Order: sequence, then C-alpha cells, then structure tokens
Amino acid sequence: MEAETLVNYDRTKELKDFDETKAGIKGLVDSGIVNIPKMFIRPAQELAEELVNPCQKNTEVPTIDLSNIEEASRRKQIVDQVRVASEEWGFFQVINHGIPLSVLDEMIDGVKKFNEQNLELKKEIYSRDPKMKVKFNSNYDLYTSHTADWRDTLTLSFLDSDPDYNEMPEVCRKPAMDYIKCMKKLGVTLFELLSEALGLQPDHLGSLGCTRGCSIVCHYYPACPQPELTLGVRKHADAGILTLLLQNEISGLQVLREGQWFDVQPIRGALVVNIGDLLQMISNDKFKSVKHRALATPVGPRISVPCFFSGHATLLDHPFGPIKELTSEANPPRYKEAVLKEYIAKFLSGALDKKAPIDYYKI
Ligand code: OGA
Ligand code: NI
Repeated sequence: MEAETLVNYDRTKELKDFDETKAGIKGLVDSGIVNIPKMFIRPAQELAEELVNPCQKNTEVPTIDLSNIEEASRRKQIVDQVRVASEEWGFFQVINHGIPLSVLDEMIDGVKKFNEQNLELKKEIYSRDPKMKVKFNSNYDLYTSHTADWRDTLTLSFLDSDPDYNEMPEVCRKPAMDYIKCMKKLGVTLFELLSEALGLQPDHLGSLGCTRGCSIVCHYYPACPQPELTLGVRKHADAGILTLLLQNEISGLQVLREGQWFDVQPIRGALVVNIGDLLQMISNDKFKSVKHRALATPVGPRISVPCFFSGHATLLDHPFGPIKELTSEANPPRYKEAVLKEYIAKFLSGALDKKAPIDYYKI
C-alpha cells in the first residue's frame, strides 16, 4: 500500500461504520455499490500469488457412497475410503447418507429467507456476544483479522444444550431444527467410521464426547461486484473436531493440497466432511486438518451451512490429547495435552488468519 493511502485511511473507522449498519454485506450490495470497500481488499502480494497458483481442475476431492453401510463387506470398503481420504485430503464428500433431500433443500431455503427478510428482524439479533446462542453478524473476527471477508453469518450454537425451537429465528425454525437433528445422526455414523478407520472400536471417538455439542453456521455470500479482489472465507483450517457442510449449487469452496487449490464441486444431495484441528491432534497427525477457503463469487447468493462438532460443554475442563492407542515409543505423542476451555478461548481471541490454537500444543 502506498504511504499516502496509509495516512488517509482509517481502517478501524471503516470497520466500525460497516458494523454499525448491522446490515452486513447484503446491506452493501443492496445499496448498489460497484467497487468493494477497502476493508475487503486482499493485500497486493496475496493477489499476485493468486495469479501464479491457479486452481487445479484435474483431480477431485473423494466422494464416498454410504449406501448399504450395514453390510459387513461394504462397511469395510467404506472405512478404507474414509481412512485414505482423511489421511490424504482431510476432506471428502458423502452421498447416500440417508438424510432426505428435502431437509437439505429446506435448510438452504431457510438461510436464504433469513437473509432476505426485513432488515429490522436481522438487526434484532446482530451481535458479537460469544454467550449468545443465536446471532447474526458479518465476519466473527471483523476487528482482529487483516482483511474482512465477503459473507454474512447466522450462528446457531448449541454446545451445551439441545437446540430450542423458540430460540431459532422464526423464518428458518423448522428447517434448522430438522437439519440439526439429521446432522447429529450423521455425525454419530461418521465418528464410528472414523474410529474404525483409526483402528479403534467403533464407539471410541463417541465415548470421548466427539459426537456431542455442535454449532450450525449459516453462511450467506452475496454476489460480489469484484470477486477477484476478496474472498468469501480466507484460507484457514477448522479448529474443531469435525465439520459437515451443506452447500448450494454455486461453487466456491476450495481445498489446499500440496500447495495447490482444488474445487470442492457442489453435488446435489451431498455433504462435505472435513477433519478439524482437534481430530488431527487426537489422531496424533494420522488424519489431516487441511486448509481451505471459499471464493467470493460473481453470482450469488452462495449459501453454505457447516455443522461444527467441537466437543460438549461437560468436557470443557477435561484435558485431552493424542489417543493412547495411537501412540507408541516409535510414534510418540506430537501434542501436549490441552484443556478444551483454554483451547476455545484461544480460538475466540484470535482470527482466522492468525496463529491457529492447535499450534500452541505442538511438541
Ligand atoms: C467455514 C468454511 C466454507 C464454505 O465456515 O469454516 O470453511 O464453503 N466454510 O462456506
Ligand atoms: Ni472451514
């Protein structure tokens, strides 16, 4: 950035003015802007790197078919596919997972309706309060990150309680309740498969509390007039245990593998699954938590609904670390034990583009 623009540019004021509108990115787009505000523009060096590192089109993130999972021989195949994908990609898509298409379609539609309803109703729950279970905002790390992202988010966070119908925003109540129920059920199946893929008893990860407590994060990415200058979500790895993600038909999600970006192409009815930092940690680096991002798109809205499994509140004071069965003299633990409460505090005080909480525990 040139010296002159640095002097004249008050970033904090720009962030604050934007935040105070409580209208998010959609508010900017609705006001008819043609050029995106400076707070969203990625540094020149990052934009230059983009040009020399185009997205790879020839290989795809694995897709795993979960049909007939109850047959022993099919299950073994599926477990093998889950192991390879979790070790090599940290990402895979699942199809024939048993969740009705209508539940997924209605969730996407519910997110659209929430964002496109009367602004006053969204403003009522616009907040950055970590204690609020249901809240709407743009960029949870708006004030701590280097560059803001092009997305608005409705968070439904139920780490320590069952979701409550009456707490949900009215326009998407039923879809959200149904979606959460289905995600929890699929989560149980996936944690069994992941346990088996680690060579453990099927209930091992479940018995550690992995299947309990989840947050649903509804991202709404309005069409962007200058998509090449910003991102929908910056490069990051997910800090929790496991993420299941539903996306609409607009592609934008990309995964970093061996220094190159790969699209995670939307498949109707599929869910994207990715390993989070905590699962990488407790698997002692056998499974990989891989960096990913979402592009800003010229058409929109792109909608995605990740469900983050991050452990239950009853586990907050418990220390956890690499699973004993997965370490040995030849393969010693690569992480110190962590306390979930402290880990979460580190995540909340940082930003997506800053030091990852897991890095504090590496040996
Ligand atoms: C996230 C994320 C990607 C997407 O919320 O952690 O990676 O496609 N989202 O929205
Ligand atoms: Ni993510």
